[in-house]
Amino acid sequence: MNRLSILVVLTLCLAALHPAVRAASAGTASPAALRQTLSLDEGWRFHLGDIARDSFAGGQGVNLYGPDITYHGAKAGSAWGAAARGYDDRGWQRVDLPHDWVVEQPFDEKALKQQGYRPRGIAWYRRTFTLPASDRGKNIELQFDGVATHCTVYFNGTEVHHNFSGYASFQIDVTPMVRYGDGAINTVAVRVDAEDTEGWWYEGGGIYRHTWLVKRSPIHIATDGVYANPVKDVRGGWVIPAEVTLANTGVGVASAAVDVGVFDAAGRRVAGGRSAPVRIAPEGAAVVKVAVPVTAPRLWSVDAPTLYTVRTTALRDGTPVDAADTRVGFRTIRFDAHKGFLLNDQPLKLKGTSNHQDHAGVGVAVPDALWDFRLRKLKEMGSNAYRTAHNPPAKELLDAADRLGMLVMDETRHFNASPEYLEQLRWLVRRDRNHPSVILWSLFNEEGLEVNEEGMEIARVMNAVVKQLDTTRPTTGAQNKGQLGPDGKANPKNAAQSLDVVGINYQADDYDRIRAAYPDKPIVSTEDTSQVMTRGEYTTDWAKVVASYDDVYPGWAATSTARGAWEAIARQPTFAGGFSWTGFAYRGEPTPYGWPSASSHFGALDLCGFPKTEFYVRQALWVKDRPVLTLVPHWNWAGKEGQPIKVLAATNADTVALYLNGKLVGDKKVDPFKMVEWQVPWAPGRLEAVAQKDGRNVARFAVETTGEPVALRLTPDRNALSGDGRDAVPVTVEAIDAQGRPVPTANLAVALEVSGPGAIIGVGNGDPNSHEPEKASKVTMYNGLAQVILQGRRAGSGSLVLRAASGGLKPFETTIDVRAVPALPSVPVVAE
Ligand code: GAL
Repeated sequence: MNRLSILVVLTLCLAALHPAVRAASAGTASPAALRQTLSLDEGWRFHLGDIARDSFAGGQGVNLYGPDITYHGAKAGSAWGAAARGYDDRGWQRVDLPHDWVVEQPFDEKALKQQGYRPRGIAWYRRTFTLPASDRGKNIELQFDGVATHCTVYFNGTEVHHNFSGYASFQIDVTPMVRYGDGAINTVAVRVDAEDTEGWWYEGGGIYRHTWLVKRSPIHIATDGVYANPVKDVRGGWVIPAEVTLANTGVGVASAAVDVGVFDAAGRRVAGGRSAPVRIAPEGAAVVKVAVPVTAPRLWSVDAPTLYTVRTTALRDGTPVDAADTRVGFRTIRFDAHKGFLLNDQPLKLKGTSNHQDHAGVGVAVPDALWDFRLRKLKEMGSNAYRTAHNPPAKELLDAADRLGMLVMDETRHFNASPEYLEQLRWLVRRDRNHPSVILWSLFNEEGLEVNEEGMEIARVMNAVVKQLDTTRPTTGAQNKGQLGPDGKANPKNAAQSLDVVGINYQADDYDRIRAAYPDKPIVSTEDTSQVMTRGEYTTDWAKVVASYDDVYPGWAATSTARGAWEAIARQPTFAGGFSWTGFAYRGEPTPYGWPSASSHFGALDLCGFPKTEFYVRQALWVKDRPVLTLVPHWNWAGKEGQPIKVLAATNADTVALYLNGKLVGDKKVDPFKMVEWQVPWAPGRLEAVAQKDGRNVARFAVETTGEPVALRLTPDRNALSGDGRDAVPVTVEAIDAQGRPVPTANLAVALEVSGPGAIIGVGNGDPNSHEPEKASKVTMYNGLAQVILQGRRAGSGSLVLRAASGGLKPFETTIDVRAVPALPSVPVVAE
């Protein structure tokens, strides 16, 4: 888009539930009928390591135009080495995207600690395809949703793009460089440089998000070119002030208009409007505005996330030529200095978690379905908000947040007001500004400059750039210092001065002072907690594991147990809420230890999404509409007869009575934040808690001493999978005793075997110290649990059977029904 001149045309057309709307809808068609959005994920060739520039036959010995200069060569179309057309990549590995090569590497103590002790390096990807002669004249765009970390893209031997953020999507209009017709091969080559890093956590390496090839009419709706975010007007009515960017890559000036239709979940067109025509020069663009009133829509909320579809159709001389569907939700949001956050005018405390983007077994190449899985887990914990720390998320995460009702603080990677980085910020806002889930733009995390005038100015510029594209959501920054001056009053020169919402990372001891210093600004805890615990461990071993009692935290995060952190936030009624560090554990930044820990011990859930004690604690703190009661730890302590075991009841009840083998241990009043703990001399048997609220029994929970494991058990998160090569399901592996009880201390090696239309795409066990391969057909359980991620094969259908066996235990077999689904339209793989 940036090479196109933008002509902004304002055509306000008001039309709604009115006969004209029905007439207008006559001239529209579905996006599938007008544009082709083809997956380019299948069938890439992959080479780990760089390729010498002079390795291209014919390249050796040439001087000025030759490979001794760059891959790029000196002339369009004549790149060298692996960047060239016709390069022989037949010996390379075939991979499908999303792909993270770093997660496939062995752990290595000499590799970067912050990145999780795995080698990163440089790699190449290549993909070839043909386009029929009938595509001539169309707009052809390549889309990369995310490549970690830096990359250069070559198309048909011409260098076409450099990308310097592993989190920003990019699109390349390759229209003038395409070759058409059956015999003409088109070649995409991508050199990925993951030697560099952008963060202090695991970032993976490779083309780890989806890729697409989009064929559109030369007059088309630009990528991310629809802004259709519903707003409530001053009179209380709803309107979608749609702004649509139309582009023209055709040869002549064109006249085009847009039709905007709003459809409910049942597919009924409930409102619409159409613009007057605008003229668009070749290689030009125009922004067309159409305000569409919508009468009495159903609202979107975290409990009832109702979505509508806005269908935007580009019309050339009255004929539909392109269309795009945008999912939207009708909701109001407000951050208020006195009332905190309000959704649909109702106060709602943000019970948030911060999260990086990797998952066990798959690294950062997270299948779309796992975003659903992860958000469902967080909702189960009582969370209603998600911070995309510290970078733009996959768009599929936001789609899932829209569908499931999870509010999102959307964070950019770079605190930088230079043109290139502002362009990344613009891209983020343009891509994400229609999502009802997105409520807050975060412009930075813990920047050195946040404390001074430079930081204030960078934030001012970034804030202004955001406002040009979206005035409906406030900005904030995750700021861990500098809001206060030495006098304890507002520091006149710091980043918070430039932002709508003051973000506070940690600094719980200063909450009152910061509140007083910014009386007119809303405040949110952008980050807190940093609680460390290792799932299923209850004794700290200062070399590698942390006991799971919610009482150990790094020095910089004082007061940061999950309980202490939430208590501090809850005691600030004007705060919008908070985002704990973290929802899920993540690779890299292996706090509080280094090697052998390769992932952090942070997280209410481990790398697989298995709950830790913090999960139950947050559930007790956050869930209000039902009783919550969980006991920690398990009750398998053979060898500790008579010794005191610390027991924590995570509950939202008033009192808890604890019984060991039917005998009352104690009946305690529950502190709503600290909850309740005992020291219980251990004896085998059953430890049971009975919780009361308002004098009535409301919940019971028991842990029992189990027998030895005798059998395995597999529990898939879902029993059906789409046979599309994309859908994925995590399966939990447990060992059970003779009575069918899961054995929480089992650490058994499990052999896996799969048959049918699918495959294992990764395994994990949530152990931060594990150095086992994650692409394997075996896994070792860690404290009673392991996870296997299964994926249905493209065009697959039938029964996918996973078998698990371990020594003399009874094996287990689970069957997932792989359902045939229409194939995702994709670009066929053609060999050169
Ligand atoms: C914060 C930082 C996070 C993470 C965390 C660990 O200061 O924003 O990225 O490093 O500390 O406690």
